[in-house]
Amino acid sequence: LATIEVDLSSIEPGQRVTVKWRSQPLFLVRRTPEMVAAAVADDLNPDLIDPQADAERVQRSEWLVVVGVCTHLGCIPLGQRSDEPHGPYNGWFCPCHGSAYDVSGRVRRGPAPRNLHVPPYVFLDESRIRIG
Ligand code: FES
Repeated sequence: LATIEVDLSSIEPGQRVTVKWRSQPLFLVRRTPEMVAAAVADDLNPDLIDPQADAERVQRSEWLVVVGVCTHLGCIPLGQRSDEPHGPYNGWFCPCHGSAYDVSGRVRRGPAPRNLHVPPYVFLDESRIRIG
């Protein structure tokens, strides 16, 4: 489907949910205040490979929405499930060649060259989002 709607109301703070969009996994994270603070604190960190402020990557700081495809060669990073490694930056870890992403989906360790892609989306109301 080109466009999907997701009901966010059952997602708990800190929870990560994967949905399918255009044959790709989409990672949704309901970020806790601590997760947001950690992301913002790294906005000017010189080790950002693809520098971008957290605020440029979200519409509402509580919700991170990114395409779950590594920007190196397209593997699916680990970290959505609680029993998977989140990597050294508490986001995602790509098992193919070791790229690591932070809780804003920014690449912090290569070889991936770019941050996880933010898809087009709109909030329809407090608890529903339309992606695509
Ligand atoms: Fe993710 Fe290579 S595909 S690090």
